[in-house]
Amino acid sequence: MRSLLFLSLVCVMTAPQAYARAIPNPAQRHAPGNEEAQKPIADAGYSVGVNYQLQCAGCHLGNGMGSPANDTPRMTGFVGNFLKVPGGREFLVRVPGMSQSALNNAQLADLLNWLMRKDGMAGKSLPDDYQPYSAEEVTQLRAKTMLNLPGTRAELIRAMRAQGIAIEDGMNN
Ligand code: HEC
Repeated sequence: MRSLLFLSLVCVMTAPQAYARAIPNPAQRHAPGNEEAQKPIADAGYSVGVNYQLQCAGCHLGNGMGSPANDTPRMTGFVGNFLKVPGGREFLVRVPGMSQSALNNAQLADLLNWLMRKDGMAGKSLPDDYQPYSAEEVTQLRAKTMLNLPGTRAELIRAMRAQGIAIEDGMNN
């Protein structure tokens, strides 16, 4: 009797998981009129803004304000400051959200140049002598893994402070 009770308990507990694994249904068909196979985003030819929405906005939010609760710094009005300190230009390509995104190197370069505009997310933080990223530069930087991200970022923030730059990244550091 006791083992029967135990067995039924196990069944009740595992049933939702079995359901969860069955979704999405691998045998599901395309909706009629939408039979074309999905394209990887690197081949899809979306605009830069759409690439940002699909690959970045989930964490950084649509307006680049980020979320301290999720350790995601604010880019709006701040991200350009990284270009004012040694190592910052490389850092911006090597953060995992960039280097490990599904975008190709040319798309990443376009995306960075889109962020780095006076009328874009960098805004007032953009240095006047900004040199756009090229696909070649991104290719090189992206391949080098950043081993100590928090340490590297803290170092860059320290170098900004030393220049008198206000640290308005929303992270209270
Ligand atoms: C899964 C969440 C997530 C996604 C997706 C993501 N990021 Fe990030 N991003 C972060 C976090 C967290 C940081 C802070 C450094 C770190 O821990 O990686 C960061 C840091 C950055 C930085 C450096 C700025 C700073 O203050 O450290 C840039 C630039 C950046 N992200 C751009 C992007 C772009 C562009 C995309 C889309 C291609 C993207 N990120 C996708 C979470 C994300």
